[in-house]
Amino acid sequence: MAETILFSREQIKTRVNKLAQEIANDYAGKDLVLISILRGAFIVTADLLRALYEAGLKDVDVEFMRVSSYESGEQTTKEPKVILDLTTDIANKHVLIVEDIIDTGYTLAFLKKHLEKRKPASLKILAFLDKKEKREVEVPVDYTGFIIKGSPWVEGYGLDGGEFGRGRPDVAEKVTS
Ligand code: IMP
Ligand code: MG
Repeated sequence: MAETILFSREQIKTRVNKLAQEIANDYAGKDLVLISILRGAFIVTADLLRALYEAGLKDVDVEFMRVSSYESGEQTTKEPKVILDLTTDIANKHVLIVEDIIDTGYTLAFLKKHLEKRKPASLKILAFLDKKEKREVEVPVDYTGFIIKGSPWVEGYGLDGGEFGRGRPDVAEKVTS
């Protein structure tokens, strides 16, 4: 199957560094906890964490959560389940959820509600990719890497799907024909 590269590794690097600058400014003097949503977001989280360090934000904690929104195949269920929850208390901490991609919005809407119950000092959302046109529920996204037009299935830089791996350094779209 043919593929189109949507975002190259250079474009991604530049964008992640830019976001890190912005986040480092916004959280200067504050302790930040990144909550990386497995599995897709582990790659962007790792790059972001190191870019934050280089941008001067060094007191950054990382936590992981995993939720399922796709039971099998590529269909969204509207009630994601928590498969892996936090192991530390986020009360009174500044929390930034790091997600690989926002599509319908159900996953992040659920996570936001779930984490707000734990009374963080603040709670913001970073989505590396945003399929804006696919949104079914409103979710405030505070930091966006790239917006994707239409509704292609994309892979790479942590995102998976069938024949392309999470490990590819760019983001590609499968093209049928
Ligand atoms: P939402 O609940 O519809 O916003 O779904 C978000 C989740 O769907 C993401 O965390 C991804 O795991 C997955 N997802 C949505 N679109 C894609 C895609 O194009 N490639 C890989 N994963 C995707
Ligand atoms: Mg995901």
